[in-house]
Amino acid sequence: PRYFALLPAAGVGARMAANGPKQYLPVGGKPLLRHAVDAFRASSLVAHTYVVVSADDGQIDGVLPPGLDGVTVLRCGGATRMDSVLNGLRVLHGQLSDTDLVMVHDAARPGLTPALIEKLVLGVGDHPAGGLLALPVVDTVKRAGGSGSDQVATVPRTGLWLAQTPQMFSYALLLRALGSAPDANAITDDASAVEMLGLSPRLIEGHPRNLKVTLPADIRIAEMYLAAAE
Ligand code: C5P
Repeated sequence: PRYFALLPAAGVGARMAANGPKQYLPVGGKPLLRHAVDAFRASSLVAHTYVVVSADDGQIDGVLPPGLDGVTVLRCGGATRMDSVLNGLRVLHGQLSDTDLVMVHDAARPGLTPALIEKLVLGVGDHPAGGLLALPVVDTVKRAGGSGSDQVATVPRTGLWLAQTPQMFSYALLLRALGSAPDANAITDDASAVEMLGLSPRLIEGHPRNLKVTLPADIRIAEMYLAAAE
């Protein structure tokens, strides 16, 4: 099969409280987005990488210069992450075939490595529902009450995982899942849209270094992992 990467990078990074979108913040000497793109470019498994940005993005050319080997920028970002992915898939109609495998990866996860990409590809294999990198929950999980933060219950952590990306599905399945998902705001990852079709994507153990940079403090943690050997 052929493997492709699709990175939604059209978010505004509201939780980062930074100047400008977080995908362009400097992390370990490179813009945040560039790390994951370079991991896909370095993987011999990945045929091509597509990056979805908003139509009015003024910074992407400085980060991914036109003509950069192995990458194409799509200016079709949407209002939500799901819309950005779905718009990208629709733009690629005709270039990707139904059985091509698409790895969707958050631009905000700079710690991805070719080794993790390979682990996902080998772990998912030809599973019809695709699969994703994820981490088993190690903390004890509490569920708070509806309004406040008073504890009301402890959720057994057995069988609980934290979803990471990349999440990999066939082009046809991902398009069908996202195209039929009821509420874009309720979909925070691609696997949940696939689950709504009654399918069970496979969980492949990822790595803490593949964290999502969400809050300012996450940048230091990401830089620590980037400085360390894999
Ligand atoms: O905000 P959050 O960290 O959950 O975003 C995850 C990824 O989705 C980021 O790479 C972000 O740029 C992307 N995104 C997008 N379009 C949106 C919102 C988020 O491509 N409308």
